[in-house]
Amino acid sequence: MNYKNITVAGSGVLGSQIAYQTAFKEFNVTVYDINDQALEVAKKRIMDLKPRYQKDLGATEEEVNSAFDRMSFYSDLSQAVAEADLVIEAIPEVVQIKTDFYMELGKVAPEKTVFATNSSYYQVNLRILLDALKNL
Ligand SMILES: NC(=O)c1ccc[n+]([C@@H]2O[C@H](COP(=O)([O-])OP(=O)(O)OC[C@H]3O[C@@H](n4cnc5c(N)ncnc54)[C@H](O)[C@@H]3O)[C@@H](O)[C@H]2O)c1
Repeated sequence: MNYKNITVAGSGVLGSQIAYQTAFKEFNVTVYDINDQALEVAKKRIMDLKPRYQKDLGATEEEVNSAFDRMSFYSDLSQAVAEADLVIEAIPEVVQIKTDFYMELGKVAPEKTVFATNSSYYQVNLRILLDALKNL
């Protein structure tokens, strides 16, 4: 598949960095989190990455601004994944949160969407994902 539209779910420490790096690599990125407050925190975190990309990677001001302009922010999951070729999940490592998230994601994501997780605990995640999909 030729991925163009990437949704990052969970915009905390890892999710915000994954989202910005993905946008920097010229994908269209949609950031999803549970509410507008969380998204505002994410925007601030991402804005703080710009000077670091300029200093550490030699990125130009235009490049760091264009990356941010390729990002959009949603607290509604169905809107956040409406065009998604790939969803990268970076939500808290809590079984119930992950289970609920994948149950909902399975209902609203288009058929083409590939799901990926940033979890540190792949075995647990795989089981959650398979259980959630079985219940759809
Ligand atoms: N922090 C690390 O160093 C690190 C390293 C490797 C992997 N990870 C993994 O990455 C994932 C995220 O970790 P983090 O440190 O970025 O967490 P974090 O707590 O910084 O961020 C989690 C984000 O998810 C949001 N969230 C909560 N419930 C949600 C839901 N139902 N749907 C969407 N968003 C939701 C929170 O509002 C928050 O913005 C975890 O699975 C963790 O194990 C983290």
